[in-house]
Amino acid sequence: METYKNLLSQAKQASENSYSPYSKFSVGASVLYESGKIYTGCNIENASYGLSLCAERCAMSSAIISGEKTKIKAIAIYSPNQIKCLPCGACRQWLYEFADDDAEIILQDENNNPLVLTLGDIFPYGFKFENNKKDE
Ligand code: THU
Repeated sequence: METYKNLLSQAKQASENSYSPYSKFSVGASVLYESGKIYTGCNIENASYGLSLCAERCAMSSAIISGEKTKIKAIAIYSPNQIKCLPCGACRQWLYEFADDDAEIILQDENNNPLVLTLGDIFPYGFKFENNKKDE
């Protein structure tokens, strides 16, 4: 429980750095890896709207550039503009690249308590090369 609250608090802090002048919708994410390290990210928008980057992918990018090699154990996502801010489809596929089905997705519910789902709950049947190779 304390881990969940700590991750949510880091996601909240990251949301304060959100660059979202177009949507005015701030998002922060914090990702805990099996190494024990935590990386954070916020959404970064662009005048060319489609180039905007979500907080979750920002945090995972930060992990990669920092040399993180272990798998994701948990991710917390927070938005001051929406309760239970779930990751978009693109971010779910990104998570699927670096996490197993039992990785925890931590959201904040209406009572400010952690709501814990798993990647398998929110993203079944993702794309991976090894699942899609035909037998020879
Ligand atoms: N956004 C995220 O950062 N993460 C999500 O999973 C959903 C959407 C951002 C993108 C955009 O800057 C704003 O929220 C509104 O869509």
